[in-house]
Amino acid sequence: METKILKTTSADIKTAGEIIKNGGLVAFPTETVYGLGANALNEQAVSKIYAAKGRPSDNPLIVHIAEKEDIIPLVKEVTPNAQKLIDAFFPAPLTIILPKSGKIGKTVSGGLSTVAVRMPQHPVARALIKAAGAPVAAPSANTSGLPSPTNAKYVIEDMNGKIDAVIDGGSCEFGIESTVITLAGETPVILRPGAVTKDMLEEVLGKVEISKAVLEGMKNGETATSPGMKYKHYSPKAKIIIINGNKEKYEKFVNSRSNAFALCFEDDKINIPKVTFGKEGDDLSQSHSLFNALRKLDELGAEKAYARNPKLSGVGLAVYNRLIRAAAFNVIDLDKPFVIGLTGQSGAGKSYIADKLKRQGFNIVDADYYSKKITENNSCVFPELQREFGKDIAKDGKLQRQLLADRAFASPESTAKLNKIMHPAILKLCIEAAEFPCVLDAPQLFESGANGLCSKTVAVIAPEELRLKRIMKRDGITKEQAKQRINAQHSEEFFKENSDFIIINDGRDTDIQIKTLSEKIV
Ligand code: TXA
Ligand code: MG
Repeated sequence: METKILKTTSADIKTAGEIIKNGGLVAFPTETVYGLGANALNEQAVSKIYAAKGRPSDNPLIVHIAEKEDIIPLVKEVTPNAQKLIDAFFPAPLTIILPKSGKIGKTVSGGLSTVAVRMPQHPVARALIKAAGAPVAAPSANTSGLPSPTNAKYVIEDMNGKIDAVIDGGSCEFGIESTVITLAGETPVILRPGAVTKDMLEEVLGKVEISKAVLEGMKNGETATSPGMKYKHYSPKAKIIIINGNKEKYEKFVNSRSNAFALCFEDDKINIPKVTFGKEGDDLSQSHSLFNALRKLDELGAEKAYARNPKLSGVGLAVYNRLIRAAAFNVIDLDKPFVIGLTGQSGAGKSYIADKLKRQGFNIVDADYYSKKITENNSCVFPELQREFGKDIAKDGKLQRQLLADRAFASPESTAKLNKIMHPAILKLCIEAAEFPCVLDAPQLFESGANGLCSKTVAVIAPEELRLKRIMKRDGITKEQAKQRINAQHSEEFFKENSDFIIINDGRDTDIQIKTLSEKIV
């Protein structure tokens, strides 16, 4: 199929309207991003949208209307809250979800009992809907998974030969998709943030919630309120890593890197190749250029890009919501000394994994080493230990280890007291030794609270039989003793629940796991 490139003249819009009337597909500009439109009431035409985008069939489309009252036949009822939003905002970068009427087919609504409706601001979009003589179903006009197109060039890149026509209307004002709010439940919930912000909506509706999925990734097995949230999104080919930290910290970090791009703000002083997305503190300029910047990275052949972190207020929340998905939720926090906190079950082979990470270029700080160091002669922790456990636990500047152990491990309370003294002192030394990119190797990562100092946590686990064997061999103890030790520690479930990544060290593909992990993280 040849894809026609149309202009915004009334003759061309009329042609585009005819194409949609006849069951074809037309991409068109809106104030948010380009949409890929079909007659929303023609299921066969709508199914072509899914095919052209490679979109999963359970991810419903937004139905676009030209006039406020055009919503009435599409929904069961225009509820009072819906009416308030329509009066206050329409036409707007705002999509309202309501229970659907019988006019809305299965395909357009992805099998759901609700329908998403939006009245766009863009005059070309509305003229097209009028010319088509029907509501127009339109997702963003990109291949599923890629950044949404904000100009005709990127629509053509994805859709050439797959759709009937594109109307070239220049670049889109907001640059990110509309705010999606559902009114189908008791409280209005924002499913996707956009240029119509939570504050603006609350002024009209009162209390509005933000869906958890806006800021967080979906856990395995979780069901999405908005089906779109469960799919990979906005991903350029380049691997994006968000760098959390102020301008100075970001610049210093990025300028010390090589083989990467900076995805930064316009005024950042950067010495490596860069692509910018707006100005610091100006969320609308950031939303306007984010998707273009992601596409630009690919054009420039970037393999990796370190991104500035937008502020989460106002439209910044929407910018962050897109960027965090483009980054597959990968964030390095420069306010934290360690990139990875490494922990795991006794005998699972944590040190072996640390060694492999070292060969991948990470600097390792071994908490065990510093926990020994802190108990050396005349240590700074002695006065506190003496206050808690008796003067005689240190003699001539030397720690009486056995005595301390007898007293500290006598009850859980006294062990907790020991940890309260030791953990902060050990961590202080670890932090002093940290050099980017740093792994903190700490058996008591979670107990000490050190996980809060790490951008990501990684736990090493292994089958119990293997761990028993390793512990017996390493420490020269019996199977029963080894078992006792294992039982006193956190379970595999604990580590799975609390860590960002798990490495299964059963001697099989650890190298591949480590490579994947380090590629994911830095
Ligand atoms: O700005 C926009 O909204 C653009 C322009 C073209 O209007 N359109 C757009 O559509 O972004 P799309 O399909 O790329 O995103 C629609 C989002 C998806 O995440 C989808 O899952 C969600 O809205 N959605 C649609 N209908 C829904 C429904 N009934 N319930 C929950 N979520 C729905
Ligand atoms: Mg989309």
